Amino acid sequence: MTKPLQVLLTGATGFTGSYVLKELLNQPNLKVTLFVRDLQKADKLGYTKLPIKLHKGCLEDTASIKQALYQKDILINIASLGFGHAPVLIDACPDTLKKAIFISTTGIFTKLNPDSKQIRLDAEKAIQNSALNFTIIRPTMIFGSAGDRNMSRLIQLQKKLPFFPVFGSGNFLQQPIYVEDLSRFIVQASLSEKSNRKTYNLAGLKAISFNDIIDTISKQLKKNVFKLHIPYSLSLLLAYIYECLFKAPKIKVEQIKRLNEHKNFSIEAAKNDFNFTPLDFESAIKKEIESLT
Ligand SMILES: NC(=O)c1ccc[n+]([C@@H]2O[C@H](COP(=O)([O-])OP(=O)(O)OC[C@H]3O[C@@H](n4cnc5c(N)ncnc54)[C@H](OP(=O)(O)O)[C@@H]3O)[C@@H](O)[C@H]2O)c1
Repeated sequence: MTKPLQVLLTGATGFTGSYVLKELLNQPNLKVTLFVRDLQKADKLGYTKLPIKLHKGCLEDTASIKQALYQKDILINIASLGFGHAPVLIDACPDTLKKAIFISTTGIFTKLNPDSKQIRLDAEKAIQNSALNFTIIRPTMIFGSAGDRNMSRLIQLQKKLPFFPVFGSGNFLQQPIYVEDLSRFIVQASLSEKSNRKTYNLAGLKAISFNDIIDTISKQLKKNVFKLHIPYSLSLLLAYIYECLFKAPKIKVEQIKRLNEHKNFSIEAAKNDFNFTPLDFESAIKKEIESLT
């Protein structure tokens, strides 16, 4: 048997990272180490009982990530590139590293200018200009279980309310990606040379409008939900007032603006290289609803 590949995974205590870990554990001949900030959190997630190693550190601490990457073959960095850690990570990678996977976001294509957009663009550039055998994966909105902080909230709201507020026309396209499809792709890409020095946009099978998302969830919940359309400019005004009044608003002006942009992306590159065939939205949301009950 060949020597097992040593994998370092960051972000495993988060939503996507926990699925990537499951996927890695299904692979033969890998030795997995998790880079975690909080060992207690990792323990609560049951990670101390798994056949893996834990390395305590954080991406602000250059020495800890350098140490964790010592003698590793593959880095899978799920932690966000939006906090400016990319230069530290690139620098920490040993010359012997075979592959470095970085998760970015299709959010970099927004016409808006959130603070993190330039940081992420600079991060991608730094990775692409490095000597690493990198793969950058840009997912759209990730969903699939209670931990997703997006579809799970829509599902819970639709369960509770007799109507659903839609900010604007609801006709703009979305193409959310199911977390299991994304995790499978991340692991496939990390174990293949096909993805060397490539960048992939990763989205669901087809783009659908926000109205269709609400209707599909209603259908799966077997509950008729009336869509209450609030005109776009009024939505912005209301969100602005709400944001001024509350410290932790549940919806922000920027989110309403993002909902009113098309967010559809080609997944051809992922299809060509890895036969990437994600679930359609209806099948995936059905699985999420089942997992929530
Ligand atoms: N969620 C989405 O819809 C979405 C869409 C597009 C792209 N993305 C990208 O996909 C990736 C995963 O997103 P997610 O929503 O699954 O993330 P998440 O649930 O917020 O988890 C983030 C993970 O990164 C770890 N982390 C954060 N800062 C760190 C640091 N300074 N040092 C070490 N570890 C750190 C967190 O550790 P702790 O547990 O200690 O906090 C956690 O394990 C991110 O890169 C995100 O930008 C997400």
